[in-house]
Amino acid sequence: MPPEKEYVRGLRDVAACETHISFVDPLGALYYVGYDIDRLLGRVCYEEVVHLLLYKRLPNQTELDAIRSTLISEMKLPEQVIQSIRDAPESSHPMEILRTEISQLGEYDADLADDSEAANLKRSIMLIAKVPTLVATIYRVRSGQKLVQPKEEYGFCENFLYMFRGKPADEEEKESIERYMILHADHGLNASTFAARVTASTLSDIYSAITSAIGTLKGRLHGGASERVMNMLLDVNNVGEVEAYIQGMLFDRKKIMGFGHRIYVANDPRSRHLRTVSKSLCKRIDRMDLYKKCRTIQAVVHKEKKIYPNVDFYAATVLNALGVPKEFFTLFFASSRITGWTAHIMEQYSDSVLLRPTSSYIGAYGTKFVPLKNR
Ligand code: COA
Repeated sequence: MPPEKEYVRGLRDVAACETHISFVDPLGALYYVGYDIDRLLGRVCYEEVVHLLLYKRLPNQTELDAIRSTLISEMKLPEQVIQSIRDAPESSHPMEILRTEISQLGEYDADLADDSEAANLKRSIMLIAKVPTLVATIYRVRSGQKLVQPKEEYGFCENFLYMFRGKPADEEEKESIERYMILHADHGLNASTFAARVTASTLSDIYSAITSAIGTLKGRLHGGASERVMNMLLDVNNVGEVEAYIQGMLFDRKKIMGFGHRIYVANDPRSRHLRTVSKSLCKRIDRMDLYKKCRTIQAVVHKEKKIYPNVDFYAATVLNALGVPKEFFTLFFASSRITGWTAHIMEQYSDSVLLRPTSSYIGAYGTKFVPLKNR
């Protein structure tokens, strides 16, 4: 018999790489390159976080101006990619289109053979800039609206919302999208980042690694959860129905979307911050009913399962209040997480070790062969 291997189901608590990028404290804190996000939020802009995660330090003013201007100038898409978005079948989910278009961007990279660190850093910044444009383009093409070009005088996140909705964001919307983007930028070795690192570890190109990541983020146990959170909020007619609804789901052994986490045993700090944003935006659009449903769901789930909301729970009402349709929630997640993914891919390239675990074989062994005519 093949020797039994120690099997760690779900790779729980297995450290598959070393990283300088972010630390997820199970007790409810998140650090980007050593900085507690509680300290960063409200004091830095998303572009500073991009610089921090890619270069492992916060930029000075000159560096910030430079990275912002590069990001905004890189937001343009190749015409062929825009056409491919127009050609996508109407029945496809926007996340499927995003996955395909990232892969297409690789086809239009004439220097793909150059896999130097400098070339990959350039590609990283280009991808951080282009993913939000892809998302805005998919939405506007889908909804039959004209494409909107970024404005040089706008911040990066402000431009993203502007290109998506076609109207300038006001101060509260700007601050909200900035916070959303900062809070989603990186999160340790989550499943999509792991997928990206596995692909990069074979020394495949960055577009392939991001395509793997997007396919992984799409799943409902990962970034796909927030769209389902919105479905749940729309399914429950009013706050009074929440308790019975949740009890019914738990009775059927169904997972409540937007709850639970592999690492955190306490409150997810991102959810704490997004709750504040959600409350203020729901009030502003006169949808406190949604916020109140969220609070009641949180209380019931905690009472029954002792688990907490994760990043996807309040992200749903935040994006909804910003005018983003639920089918685009996971695409907004990707528009920010692209920063973490590219930082991790670069880190993986610099380590140059193949990520290749083993499996514990428990199937048949030494089976007697029977020729086809006798089977
Ligand atoms: N709803 C109901 N119960 C949940 C739950 C949820 N969302 N998340 C975890 N649990 C329960 C499990 O049923 C299990 O309970 P049990 O011991 O009584 O069987 C316990 O909590 C441990 O959960 P487990 O599935 O082992 O945790 P995990 O680390 O494997 O999974 C998630 C983590 C995120 C995949 C899981 O919590 C989940 O599916 N959440 C919903 C999807 C989601 O919001 N994803 C976004 C993640 S950021």
